[in-house]
Amino acid sequence: QAGRSGGAGDGTVAKDTLGNDVIAAEWLQTHGPGDRTLTQGLKIIVESKLKPGHTLLLEPGQCCLTPLCYVEKMGTTECIWGDPTYLVVENDRTLATFGINAVCTHLGCVVPWNSAENKFICPCHGSQYNNQGRVVRGPAPLLLALAHADIDDGNVLFIPWVETDFRTVEAPWWA
Ligand code: FES
Repeated sequence: QAGRSGGAGDGTVAKDTLGNDVIAAEWLQTHGPGDRTLTQGLKIIVESKLKPGHTLLLEPGQCCLTPLCYVEKMGTTECIWGDPTYLVVENDRTLATFGINAVCTHLGCVVPWNSAENKFICPCHGSQYNNQGRVVRGPAPLLLALAHADIDDGNVLFIPWVETDFRTVEAPWWA
């Protein structure tokens, strides 16, 4: 893809809900076609979120799937979270080359995948997204964001998606 930015240096190794690196081959043995499972995605460092007296809910290195839980990096005041991102298994049992950001574009709830409905359905105000994250029901104003999902040395590596959004064929709203 032309204009693809950065190398592995910009990437974040996907972690599962226990905080372990996702190994692509192992993931595909336990996640079948059509599966969409939350992982910890692109790292976001938000120092201002670490308020005085704030109680850390997780130990350093543990997985953090919502913007409301924090991981303090040892010896610093950095607050780090991985954007909750769905890893997608295609129907041919390969990993999709894109991950779907789980943060609702309405007010930021983490949107669960509903496999029976084949949609992402937000519990907060009822927004619905199709299986690629396109809005099918408001109030969400925008599609769920994307990240590239590459396989690097057996791990899944999320890389910021700054190119054309293949769903709209327009520039991504989040980049
Ligand atoms: Fe998802 Fe409002 S935050 S519908």
